[in-house]
Amino acid sequence: MSPTSNSEPSGVHELIAKRWSPREFLAKPVEPAKLLSVFEAARWASTCFNEQPSRYVTATKDDAAGFQRILGLLVEQNQTWARGAFLLGFSASKRTFTHNGAPNRFAPHDLGSASANLALEAVAQGLHTHFMGGFDAVRARAEFGIPDDFEIGAAFAVGYIDEAAVKPGARSRKSLSETTFGTDWGKAAGFMG
Ligand SMILES: Cc1cc2nc3c(=O)[nH]c(=O)nc-3n(C[C@H](O)[C@H](O)[C@H](O)COP(=O)(O)O)c2cc1C
Repeated sequence: MSPTSNSEPSGVHELIAKRWSPREFLAKPVEPAKLLSVFEAARWASTCFNEQPSRYVTATKDDAAGFQRILGLLVEQNQTWARGAFLLGFSASKRTFTHNGAPNRFAPHDLGSASANLALEAVAQGLHTHFMGGFDAVRARAEFGIPDDFEIGAAFAVGYIDEAAVKPGARSRKSLSETTFGTDWGKAAGFMG
């Protein structure tokens, strides 16, 4: 597999290679210590001014009512499979810097970094994640009392999957030369050969 394959990751750390977004989760509960590690990983992402704008609203199946509240925010298509996960949540990021109240245009970047950490730590813990844009962010704000100063991010599911039963469909990515340039916009960087 070439390091620029468009179907499978290669030449990367196995945590990155093993991460994917499943739709079939096992009923098996996730140990609290593993969930702690997953959210601890998010907390340690780098952030602009060390603002740490990311927040996660979560419910596990141990909190049946909370789990149903988050599940109910998802579009029906996502509900059909996400109900199988052990933890559901959604993210938010603070729109302004706390030290001066100025808009923080890096908050979406920092939420993405935190969530990527979360997803990779999940793999390290033997878990998987699946992020979802298909949910009602307006209702999430109202029903969970999210302050105006926080932008709602993505919903997500966390749980165990049956590694043996998994049959991921074909995965694809843009080529590296479409995403990573030298100093001429649109032209592949020199290190790509
Ligand atoms: C912000 C975001 C929103 C997404 N929304 C949905 C969604 O609503 N439903 C869904 O089934 N998958 C959703 N996905 C999963 C993507 O389709 C998936 O990550 C992409 O196809 C790449 O596949 P992979 O994660 O297995 O590598 C979303 C992913 C992200 C990061």
